[in-house]
Amino acid sequence: MLNFEFCSPTRFVFGKNTESQAGELIKNHGGTKVLIHYGGGSVVRSGLLDRVKASLTEQGIPYVELGGVQPNPRSGLVYQGIDLCRKEGVDFILAVGGGSVIDSAKAIAAGVVYDGDFWDYWAVKAVIPKALPIGTVLTIPAAGSEGSSNSVITHEETLIKRGTGGDAVRPKFSILNPELTFTLPQWQTASGVCDIIAHILERYFTNTTEVEVTDRLCEAILLTMIKEAPRVIENPENYEARANIMWAGMLAHNNVCGVGREQEWTTHAIEHELSALYDVTHGAGLAVLFPAWMKKALPHDPKRFAQLATRVFGIENKGDDMATGLAGIEAWADFFTSLGMPRTLRELGVQEKDFVYMANHLMLRPDGTCGKYIVLTPDDVVEIYKSCY
Ligand code: NZQ
Ligand code: ZN
Repeated sequence: MLNFEFCSPTRFVFGKNTESQAGELIKNHGGTKVLIHYGGGSVVRSGLLDRVKASLTEQGIPYVELGGVQPNPRSGLVYQGIDLCRKEGVDFILAVGGGSVIDSAKAIAAGVVYDGDFWDYWAVKAVIPKALPIGTVLTIPAAGSEGSSNSVITHEETLIKRGTGGDAVRPKFSILNPELTFTLPQWQTASGVCDIIAHILERYFTNTTEVEVTDRLCEAILLTMIKEAPRVIENPENYEARANIMWAGMLAHNNVCGVGREQEWTTHAIEHELSALYDVTHGAGLAVLFPAWMKKALPHDPKRFAQLATRVFGIENKGDDMATGLAGIEAWADFFTSLGMPRTLRELGVQEKDFVYMANHLMLRPDGTCGKYIVLTPDDVVEIYKSCY
């Protein structure tokens, strides 16, 4: 295991009706003027936004609002948010929505207290040193942004989608009420599940040895997702299954499962090119790309793939790690499609003519490669795109 430091200071308030505590939590964290940030309208239609506002009003906390965050959030609204916060003297940002809203809130929070262009941090993946405090009311378990130090934004002019972060943008509190996820369309539920699984797989495939405790934590979350996801697809109002998925989504990405080991993240980078160019739903892109990346990585370390296949899918290893590992990869692809996810890039509207562009548009190292568990050239990335086209 590698040396590490781990700090996950977010207060999680979990359960039914917890959104009514938003005002009190903001007050406890010193917020006196709030920006309520939200997305394309689901929180308006569900009545959640009104309940959150009432909670602030009850505590005598004034607020301004900025809605309209789109999935795969864009830089344009971040600039608007920064201007609004400065003009209104906002000192606390409350994100009400999913990963896109939370990430946009984090970018605004970083930008308000920075003299330059907020994108400076994202352009070079620099650690964000300071930010306004943020709270979240989560409406979709997926990105894990409610407990993570990351924010992923697409630059509007260049269509570069990049993540960066720092402990400064970890939420001070996150309100997680599983009931708020009952209204999710199946596509979003399933995409969220695939993203959560991908966050574990990006950590699981590591060259660091002797990481039994985090391996086992990762496997526990994967087993939970395999059990609970079909239950919410069948009954979107299954509170207990929704609750398990919601907490798993946080655990999958606040890094408790990833400390002490080298992490991968190449499939995420390869996927971000799709969401930047075609506005593909992040989790759906991962559902197609992850099995393809795994097939490419399998020969590097068949033992690890076989371990995962046996421990998570119960696939018997008859002394052939390659065959067992491959069966595990097929089991992942089957599981994703059983939730209604696509199996090919073609189904997502991606065009073959863009493969070379996307592979070269990735954030590559100076030597032109990417990846840690396995090192990939742009040609390898093109091959991965082709293999799942
Ligand atoms: O915009 P509204 O109307 O609210 O609708 C949203 C949106 O269309 C809808 N939705 C959310 N909660 C709902 C709901 N509809 C009905 N009922 C509800 N309760 O779902 C759609 C997707 O929302 P979005 O916030 O985009 O989803 P998600 O949480 O998957 O976030 C995706 C973004 O997070 C980034 C992704 O790249 C993508 O940009 N990621 C962020 C990470 C991080 N900050 O740590 C890590 C991830 O790997 C990921 O890259
Ligand atoms: Zn993700």
